[in-house]
Amino acid sequence: MKCSLMALLENVATSLRKIQLEAGGNMISIQRACFRVWKSIHFSIHYHSSWHSRVVFTLLISPAFLAVFVSASRGLFVASDPGPRGGLSGAGGPLPGLSERELKLFLAGQDAIQEIDSVTGTVPDTGHGLGPRFNMDSCGGCHNFPAPGGSSPPVNPMISVATKNGATNTVPFFITLDGPIRRAFLRSMGGQARGTDLHLFTISGRSDAPGCDLAQPDFDSLAPQLAFHVPLPLYGDGLIESISTDTIVANLASNSTLKRALGIAGRPGGINGSGRFLWKGQGARLELLAAGGYQNEVGVTNALIPREDDPAPSCQFNALPEDTFDSSASNFIEGLPDFAKIAGFVRFSAPPDPIQDTPSITSGRTLFNRIGCALCHTPSLQTGESRSRSLNFRTVGLYSDLALHRMGPGLADGIPEGNAGADDFRTPPLWGLGQRIFFLHDGRTSDLLEAIQAHTSEQGGSEADKVIGAFNTLSEEQKQDILNFLRSL
Ligand code: HEC
Ligand code: HEC
Repeated sequence: MKCSLMALLENVATSLRKIQLEAGGNMISIQRACFRVWKSIHFSIHYHSSWHSRVVFTLLISPAFLAVFVSASRGLFVASDPGPRGGLSGAGGPLPGLSERELKLFLAGQDAIQEIDSVTGTVPDTGHGLGPRFNMDSCGGCHNFPAPGGSSPPVNPMISVATKNGATNTVPFFITLDGPIRRAFLRSMGGQARGTDLHLFTISGRSDAPGCDLAQPDFDSLAPQLAFHVPLPLYGDGLIESISTDTIVANLASNSTLKRALGIAGRPGGINGSGRFLWKGQGARLELLAAGGYQNEVGVTNALIPREDDPAPSCQFNALPEDTFDSSASNFIEGLPDFAKIAGFVRFSAPPDPIQDTPSITSGRTLFNRIGCALCHTPSLQTGESRSRSLNFRTVGLYSDLALHRMGPGLADGIPEGNAGADDFRTPPLWGLGQRIFFLHDGRTSDLLEAIQAHTSEQGGSEADKVIGAFNTLSEEQKQDILNFLRSL
């Protein structure tokens, strides 16, 4: 076959149109399509054409392709979230420099956080105290990814726990196999004070809970009033606990002119401004959060919170509290109640490791600071004095000011807690973001770009409105640098 010069040029023109259509604006697919077409033309010319077609191709068409390749790539490139990075988790380990005793406590807690609980402990390899109402049968079921102590994993364990050991729960509509773990709250409506939390599951039907007959909340009919929170990762929380309220307040007061110009305020969470944990910023002490999590999420009562949420007499199977000091244990640490061990694990866990900088990551970090993300997501804060060497006066690269901000109607969850109103949220630390799957308080997206855009809504009213406006004026390449930077954390 001989191909004439005209046919060749036509071929090239069609190919270029095809590239535009096929690629649909994505740089990688433009590159691939260009390369495929270039190769096939090069091949057919080389083997089938006259010498002058070959010369024309080399002199004219090749550079034309290159030019189209470059300009098409530039013009059509759209920034996108590269997704969770693979490789080692680099998370869930102990802080460096722990004392022997601290490390022992960390390790005991690392075991305890993964312990599965059944109702009476009669199911092999389980502790006791599950239910009567619960959300999961271990802390580690929810604080799970990319290593124990993390957040929601890719496969939602709430589906299987619903019917484990004969339980007869229906999976609520907001729980899906590839969606996030969610806790459910009733939004406070019409001036009602609290966002009551609703347990998803009961122990009814389980082989170790004979005679217990509790109904789940009717989630379908409650749907319009429901709000959700997804698990927060626990890594590095001991460092966060050691940052003093004074430091949080002083950081809020810094860059005040710039913050005022951008509409950024912020205040400490919790009662009397002592909070720094949880989506609404009301949590302060890790022991209390661990004891509260154990009692509320798993249903295991303990010395700090000794009563069951549901007192139905036919569903009580154990003496209270269920998680107690074990004086028969071989040493003090082993004898501690599980919640105290787990608090130790959380306190002495190291923050997740970021990956090494590339030029794009470095540029992303600069832009993140320049456009004002860093005015809320403070790159680092100092811990105060601590008895633990590993927590004492450390620089903590958390990317949060640990303070509450008004985020407007698009994010509002209607759950007032401590200092936080319906649309107030604590700036979440961004460390570990590189391996996180679900974003924002309700896990509404797995896409970082959507998480950023959700900071603002049409009605306005978010302290992040102006910063997101600045983000939107960046070039697609610059946005990509910010996304690459976030996925490096
Ligand atoms: C059903 C899933 C689930 C289980 C089980 C669970 N948690 Fe959580 N955890 C969450 C959710 C959801 C949040 C965020 C809650 C909020 O802000 O309203 C959270 C937040 C936390 C926080 C605050 C983290 C931070 O940095 O702000 C700590 C600490 C914590 N959990 C510890 C525990 C411990 C310890 C256990 C077991 C004793 C436990 N959790 C069991 C879902 C769970
Ligand atoms: C006014 C303070 C503020 C500014 C400015 C701000 N953020 Fe946030 N950011 C928050 C708060 C508060 C949340 C949690 C909102 C929620 O979950 O409803 C959040 C959530 C996030 C999340 C999701 C984190 C998670 O754990 O799910 C990412 C990612 C993020 N911000 C990145 C950015 C980037 C990038 C910028 C700059 C373009 C930025 N933020 C600017 C306060 C701020």
